[in-house]
Formats: sequence, C-alpha cells, structure tokens
Amino acid sequence: MSPTKILITGAGGMLATALESILNPSFRVTALTEKQLDITDKDAVMKSIGEAKPDVLINAAAYTAVDRCEQEQDTANRVNGTAVGYLAQAAQVTGAKVIHISTDYVFDGAKDGPYTEEDKPNPVSAYGRSKLLGERELIRFSDNYIILRTQWMYGEQGKNFVDTIIQLAQQKDELKVVDDQYGSPTYTKDLASVVRWFAEHGEMKNRVFNFSNEGIVSWFGFAREIVKLAGVKTNIIPVDSAAFPRPARRPHNSALDKTAVKRITKIDIRPWYDALYEYMKDTGRIR
Ligand SMILES: NC(=O)c1ccc[n+]([C@@H]2O[C@H](COP(=O)([O-])OP(=O)(O)OC[C@H]3O[C@@H](n4cnc5c(N)ncnc54)[C@H](OP(=O)(O)O)[C@@H]3O)[C@@H](O)[C@H]2O)c1
Repeated sequence: MSPTKILITGAGGMLATALESILNPSFRVTALTEKQLDITDKDAVMKSIGEAKPDVLINAAAYTAVDRCEQEQDTANRVNGTAVGYLAQAAQVTGAKVIHISTDYVFDGAKDGPYTEEDKPNPVSAYGRSKLLGERELIRFSDNYIILRTQWMYGEQGKNFVDTIIQLAQQKDELKVVDDQYGSPTYTKDLASVVRWFAEHGEMKNRVFNFSNEGIVSWFGFAREIVKLAGVKTNIIPVDSAAFPRPARRPHNSALDKTAVKRITKIDIRPWYDALYEYMKDTGRIR
C-alpha cells in the first residue's frame, strides 16, 4: 500500500513547520504556503485539493494576529471561518479527512476549572469568533473531520511567547507579566505528534478534542520558568491584565481538559515544563 498522502496548508507557520518534521518521510507530504495556496480563494482550493487528492488535509493556516483581528474582522472571518468551509467542501469531493486546528479562545474564560469539549463556546474576541465560525463551517460541510483545540503554542519558526520573553529579559532588568490569565503552554512538537495520530487513525472522525501540555500556569509563571531555564537574571513581576490594555479581550481561564484525547490516543502528555525544557535544548538555549 502506498503511504498516506497528506496536504498541509499554512506551510511556513509555526505548527506547519513541526508537522512537516514529524510527518516526513513516513508520509507523502505536500505543504503549501499562503503564496502557493491562499485558502480564501475557493477556486484555487478546489483545484489544488482536486489535483493533489490527499488522504488527509491538515489545515494549519490561520490569521493568528489576535489583536489585529479586532480591526480586521472581515479578514479574520474569511481566513479562519469561511475558508475552512472551502477546504471542507474540497475534501468532501476527493474523500479526504480534514484535521483542523482551533483554539481555547472559543471560550469566554469564566468557567471555574478546565474546559471540556462539551462546554459551550462563547468567544470574547473577534479572533475567537472567527475560529468558532471555522469549526462550524467544517462541521457543516465535512463528514470526515477532527477538530483539535489548542492553546499557548510555541515552537520553531514562529513569533512566540518563549522567544519574546528571552529577548526582553536579555534587554531589561525587570519584566511585568500578566498573572490573572491561566492556561497550559503547548509545544508544537507535542501537538504535531497528536495530529499524526489522527492522520494515522482514519476510523476516528467527526469529533472535537482538546490538546495542550499538562499542567496549568499563568503567563507570569510561564515567564518565570522560561527566564530560569535560560539563565537570564531578570526580575519578573506579576501584574493584572488591566495593566496591559489590549484591543482583544483574553479569557481569564482557558485551561483545556484533555481526558478525551488521552483516553482515545493513549498518548502520555508531558508536563509543560518538560516540553519547555526540550524546546530550550532544541533551540540551543540550554546546553
Ligand atoms: N499560536 C498559538 O498560540 C495558537 C493557539 C491556539 C490555536 N492556534 C491555532 O493553531 C493553528 C496554527 O497556528 P500557528 O501559531 O502555527 O500560526 P502561524 O505561525 O501564524 O501560521 C499560520 C500560517 O497561515 C498562513 N496563512 C495566513 N493566511 C492564509 C491564507 N489566506 N491562506 C493560506 N495560508 C495563510 C500564514 O502565512 P503568513 O504568515 O505568510 O500570513 C502562516 O504561515 C492556527 O489554526 C491557530 O489558530 C494557535
């Protein structure tokens, strides 16, 4: 049997980069950048997917600038919402399974405890609303999909919190970091291995799953660990979100319950600080 054909959209992005490393060479992977396939162009989507005929289509493309989405709601809704419907329709024609990445920002953050897949979404930002629209478009048009909701992602090839904190810590003696938003950091490598599991298990479909690394922390706690591991001497100061007014509201608690994904995949999810340690090693920050 020939290896599974996988098509990845949003190549060059943070998650897509990790996906390419984990899926090659076991699968026949085609990864298309925005230049090669703009997912908001329905004709191009139908043509590309029609020609490639992948077994699995992984949508790692998104408009991820959370604050800018407030000003650019049309763009956010087109890329994160309507375009997901185009991908789903194209995949339906060729019979591909769609694995789509969504976000904790579909929740309002008011829950006391981690969100399960059954909790009712109630996004408080334009980005969150556009991502929820994407989930709904996928469910509307596809009968072979998996939605993975994740959060606080970092990895190679991306502008991310870990790299930003290290850079700022090297420039400043003191850093103020928000201590009233809680979640779980996610290393792209770990999420990519779960995506791989769903690509390999065709029988598992039409479900939403949560995924992040284990353990719940605030951005302040996350920053403190990053700086400690990097060996940079900076004072990290906890502050409330009110100290950093931003265009988009963020949920106060968006921790995700991972009972379902663990039960189905049997993957042993590692704690966020172990994954962070490996990322720091992989990127040469720790020897
Ligand atoms: N990063 C996080 O903390 C986080 C948290 C929860 C969920 N997620 C979700 O995880 C997924 C991957 O995120 P990521 O952090 O890897 O994002 P990323 O690094 O911003 O990558 C997204 C990629 O999509 C591309 N793209 C944008 N518009 C496109 C279009 N119209 N057609 C095709 N490609 C397009 C971008 O290209 P350009 O850069 O050239 O525009 C970029 O390469 C997304 O669905 C995101 O919503 C991310």
